[in-house]
Amino acid sequence: MFRIHTCGELRIANAGQHTILSGWVQRTRKMGGMTFVDIRDRYGITQLVFNQDVNAGLWEQANKLGREFVIQATGEVAERINKNRNIETGEIEILVSALQVLNESKTPPFTIEDNTDGGDDIRMKYRYLDLRRNNVRENLELRHRITFEIRRYLDQMNFLEVETPILIGSTPEGARDFVVPSRMNPGEFYALPQSPQLFKQLLMVSGFDRYFQIAKCFRDEDLRADRQPEFTQIDCEMSFVEQEDVLVIFEGMMKQLFKFIKNIDFDNPFPRMTWHDAMKYYGSDKPDIRFDMKLVELKEAVSGHDFVVFDSVPYVGGICVGGCAGYTRKQLDELTDFVKRPQIGAKGLVYIRCEADGTFKSSVDKFYSTDDLKAIAAKFNAQSGDLILLLAGNKIKTQKALCELRLEMGARLGFREKNVFAPLWVIDFPLFEWDDETQRYYATHHPFTSPNPDDIHLLDTDSGKVRATAYDMVINGIELGGGSIRIHDSQLQNKMFELLGFTLEKAQAQFGFLMNAFQYGAPPHGGLAFGLDRLVSLFAGLDSIRDCIAFPKNNSGRDVMANAPSKIDQSQLDELNLVIDIKPQTPKGA
Ligand code: AMO
Repeated sequence: MFRIHTCGELRIANAGQHTILSGWVQRTRKMGGMTFVDIRDRYGITQLVFNQDVNAGLWEQANKLGREFVIQATGEVAERINKNRNIETGEIEILVSALQVLNESKTPPFTIEDNTDGGDDIRMKYRYLDLRRNNVRENLELRHRITFEIRRYLDQMNFLEVETPILIGSTPEGARDFVVPSRMNPGEFYALPQSPQLFKQLLMVSGFDRYFQIAKCFRDEDLRADRQPEFTQIDCEMSFVEQEDVLVIFEGMMKQLFKFIKNIDFDNPFPRMTWHDAMKYYGSDKPDIRFDMKLVELKEAVSGHDFVVFDSVPYVGGICVGGCAGYTRKQLDELTDFVKRPQIGAKGLVYIRCEADGTFKSSVDKFYSTDDLKAIAAKFNAQSGDLILLLAGNKIKTQKALCELRLEMGARLGFREKNVFAPLWVIDFPLFEWDDETQRYYATHHPFTSPNPDDIHLLDTDSGKVRATAYDMVINGIELGGGSIRIHDSQLQNKMFELLGFTLEKAQAQFGFLMNAFQYGAPPHGGLAFGLDRLVSLFAGLDSIRDCIAFPKNNSGRDVMANAPSKIDQSQLDELNLVIDIKPQTPKGA
């Protein structure tokens, strides 16, 4: 028997009992003739005691233990004199009568403690050691509990978990595919699924009217803190539903998770906001509504005062930051630098300070009288002591820049607390997005998303105005999930392909099997998918989804531990009929 108890289990009530523990050496402390060893496993830490006077041989053996040795200790549970209130087993210790080293360990490259001395890179390389640390392990435990609750909820709601293939053709989510060459079909490639989208729709045709899957998805796109090339979706689809049915089921799932995992009750329905309002008031399709500070449009109010910056652009907008009129020149310059960063791209920042005495100080005093500034301040409902910040330029770009500025100010003012949660449904997304570069429309969601029935008449005449029956769940400014009601009518689907610039042949080649299936009685259906990694990070208060994934990739998409991707043997290349021909990279900026 390797163990009777775990290292997190024993309490004062066990004093006097015989026990055997197995685990890793966290730390050894030698104090004269006494040696204390902390033994650790997944469940906790227990103190082992070795006394030279009681058993000198055993004491010497304990002194030779190194960090991370795997040991087995047999002994008696005893009440501790110096109790440690910081750990759950802190009232007891084990008076060891036999010790066995089950395995030695090299000195680990970083200390396996909550506050480790290991940098990111080294911890990624030795991820299996990093996973021994409490905070990393706790994230995975949370992930397990969340996944477990989700399965329980969906099972109660009659959803069936069905697996779909990984080696497939291209899926329509809009990122680049990861591809896999086929040895048996020379010159041909599988694509890894960007999502199980087409398969879940086929399952609806097959009559599985409530499907879900905790599904691995793969997207070759630029990585960010909330993106991994390989990530997990809670993927769901339902038949015979309208948008309302889908929202109700999944709002219920989220409420149950909040209750079980965080003990938070949401008694009211989650608020809903149209995409149009989200952009207008928050400059984002995923607004963080933990705080207000809405964007106000000012183009009309500020035009015609000979201020070229405002007169020459299509959009002027701003935010009003409560209580910040005292911002110094230096702080305002910092904010100007912030909005001028390339990723934000504003040209400059105009401020209006609403002074305590009812006057205004602004960087554009020359062009606007006190009454003008008062009128602008009134648009924000500004009070004395507030700071108004304005940006100008192209509409969408400026709204997005204002969104970043709003989030920055919200963070500075402490409005973005990690343990406050503000869920929101964003609805009525536009069906199409216009791309200036290629001069054509793309599907905002994907080509199978149904237009809002009220807007179908606009498809040919004003397609940019057509709303989709698509929705996202957003919490604290994070897009947690999204989905849509699908087109189940072949003719309407063909029309969509046409509007998206697919020839019938191309659509047939890429999605032919789905289009064929739709000719055999496709039920009305719809669904959505949540990002599991994002959900766990939100609940755990993490800054990057990497921290809740057991073996994540780094920012260059590498698994530095397993050294993947890597080169393959010539014989493997030959078998796959592949020739590597790496073109010299053009230097950046050339
Ligand atoms: P969508 O592309 O919006 O929809 O993806 C659904 C959710 O998956 C998460 N997500 C990601 N998480 C981590 N890393 C990534 N690279 C990544 N990309 C997406 C997000 C997102 O909200 N098939 C549709 C769903 C449907 O229509 O039913 C789909 O995949 O949380």
